[in-house]
Formats: sequence, structure tokens, C-alpha cells
Amino acid sequence: MRTVVHTRQGNPADVLTLREDPDPPPRPGTGQVLVRLLVRPVHPGDLAGVEGMPGLAEQRLGEVRTPGVEGMGVVESVGPDVRGLRPGQRVAVFPAPGTWADFVVVAAERAVPVPDGVDDETAALLLVNPLTLRMLYRALENALGEQDKGPVLQTAAGSSIGRLVSAAAVRHGLPLVNLVRSASGAQRMREAYPTLPVVTTSDGDWREQVRRHTGGRPLQAVLDCVGNPLTQDLVTLLADGGTLITYGRLGSGTTALEELPVVQRGLTVQGVTVWHWTRRGPEERAQDVAFALDLARNTPELFEVAARYDLADVEAAVEHVRRPGKSGTVLLTSPRSTGAGQEAVR
Ligand SMILES: NC(=O)c1ccc[n+]([C@@H]2O[C@H](COP(=O)([O-])OP(=O)(O)OC[C@H]3O[C@@H](n4cnc5c(N)ncnc54)[C@H](OP(=O)(O)O)[C@@H]3O)[C@@H](O)[C@H]2O)c1
Repeated sequence: MRTVVHTRQGNPADVLTLREDPDPPPRPGTGQVLVRLLVRPVHPGDLAGVEGMPGLAEQRLGEVRTPGVEGMGVVESVGPDVRGLRPGQRVAVFPAPGTWADFVVVAAERAVPVPDGVDDETAALLLVNPLTLRMLYRALENALGEQDKGPVLQTAAGSSIGRLVSAAAVRHGLPLVNLVRSASGAQRMREAYPTLPVVTTSDGDWREQVRRHTGGRPLQAVLDCVGNPLTQDLVTLLADGGTLITYGRLGSGTTALEELPVVQRGLTVQGVTVWHWTRRGPEERAQDVAFALDLARNTPELFEVAARYDLADVEAAVEHVRRPGKSGTVLLTSPRSTGAGQEAVR
């Protein structure tokens, strides 16, 4: 059994190692399943977990941790009191801490059976990003209320999440301005979503361009996963009473809250994290999973893969995630070894 581990926080290339363990995989307890993982993504948030960031529990020195929160694989065995899952079945798992390993044990309710029409790679990306989209959309609906909807801007629009947001905006007629950092990124977004305006921060007059695209109306809300150094400008573009929805920090450095006119202009700063998805009610969670499955079946192109690396090549995979111009998500794979359920893998 192979497991990617780190015992301290830091640059992933320096602190991650692959451990090969001759012991058999752990046995699932009551209500749990053991999943033999085949594919798992390397999300930017996974790297933040390795590096450490404000609000994330600091790793205790020497404590062994395995990154990864989602993935797909095959049920290897089920513990007592598990209904509806059987060995050999393909499943997508989230939240499942420690998926950068050949096996993971998860609560059965966190394993979603994958339908035949959804391939392994799409299944590996089934949950985190679509569920984040649902969380972002709810935050957006709260921010916009019943008033005249929009305009709204999103940063890092070419990201995997940004593309889901764009597709949803087109579907719902949301007046969205897409902000990217390069001309080549802008071109890709124009081709993918020709009806949505795209602005590039490498243009000196990008703020003016945003205003032109909104017809001079200030933004009602911003979906931001970059943070510093954009935050001040984004707040300037917001309407009084507008909402900055923050859900990532791809940028660098920090912005002090006190430097922003939050009080004077009655702004709202709202954080969104997919980790809070498990706090939603069972009915809403079931609807969200059905939404994700529907998206995977009908629009698999929204689950773009940037590259695939064997689990042992984790260092190269991590380096790829940060490459400018990358489009889609980097995957870590395990060979389809023999064992229960191999015939079920598609
Ligand atoms: N809060 C949550 O629960 C949650 C859940 C999922 C994701 N997220 C966050 O959502 C963000 C996007 O995730 P993803 O998986 O969709 O990303 P992704 O597919 O890896 O794409 C990253 C994108 O960000 C752009 N980018 C990278 N660094 C940037 C910078 N300094 N300034 C501007 N743009 C930059 C890249 O643009 P180029 O093409 O120019 O290189 C690329 O389009 C991340 O911050 C992630 O942590 C949050």
C-alpha cells in the first residue's frame, strides 16, 4: 500500500514523501467502507493544506498526515451495518481526508455510487468543485437578494471552478464579468463562453474595462479566489452595500480588513468553504449530489483534466498544478491492480 505523507508543513516539493507499506490496508469499521482508490485530484486547496494557511490547524511536529480530500475508486470491503454499497462498486468519495493513498476508509454516507455513464476521471472530480459551485451560488443568491440581479464579477475565471460558475451564469442569465490574468487565458474563456465579457488584469485599464462591460453600474457581488493583490481594486469596483465572496487565495500577501472601507460603505465580506457543505441538511445534500451527477453525465467537458501522474510522481504533479496557463485539474492515479471489483472499473 502506497501513501503520500508529510510530517511538517511547508513547500509540498520539500515535505511530501511516498511511503510504501507492506501491511494490508486497514479494515473498515461499523458504517464504513474501504475504498481502493484509482484516481484523485490535486486541488489548490490540497496544497494549502500541506503548506499551512491562516485558520487551518497547524500540524503538530512529527504527526503523519496524508493530503487529499476526494477521489474515486472501487469498494474493496464494507464494514458492519453498511447498506447500499458492495465490494466491486465504483464510488466517488468526499469528504475523505487522506485520498493521496492507494486505500482510504470512509463513512459509507461519504461514498457516492458512480453511474455507468460517468468515467473514472470525471468521477474523481465529481464532488468538490460542483459542491463548491452550489455553495457559491447560494452565497451569491443571498448577496443579490430579490433585487435586480448583478452585475457580478469573478476572479481566476479560467479555473476549474470559474468555468463551472461561467456555465451556471450562462444557464441562469446572470450578468457575469470574467476576470483573468493573461491574454491567453482571456482568449480561452472567450472561446468557451463567448457571451460573457472577459477582462485581463495585465491590461493597465482593466478596471475601466470592467466598468464599461457593466454599463457603468457598480458590481453587486464579487466571487474572489485570488485575494491580494486584487482585493483593494475589487472593493473599489463594488457597489455600496455590495458583497465580496471570498473562497480562495491564489494570490500572495495579505490585505488588512481595516484597510478596506467595509464599515463606511456597508460592505459584506463573506467566506465560503466546501468543508461546511456537510453541515447542510440531508435533503439539500442529496439535491447537491444529484446536481453533481447530472453535471457529470451531461457536461463532462466541465470536468477537464490537465494531466495525469502516477501517485509515486506526486512531486511532478504538484509542480504542474502551479504552472501558469494550466487548464483543468491535475490527477494522481493508481494502477488498476487485481482484486475485488476490478471488472467493475470502467
Ligand atoms: N473554498 C472552497 O471550499 C474551495 C473549493 C474548491 C476550490 N477553491 C479555490 O478555488 C480556486 C480555484 O480552484 P480550481 O481548482 O478551480 O483551480 P485551477 O483549476 O487549478 O485553476 C487555477 C486558476 O487560477 C489562475 N491563477 C493562479 N494563480 C493566480 C493568481 N495569482 N492571480 C490570478 N489568477 C491566478 C490560473 O490562471 P492562469 O491560466 O493565468 O494560470 C488558473 O486559471 C482556488 O483558490 C481554490 O483553493 C475553494
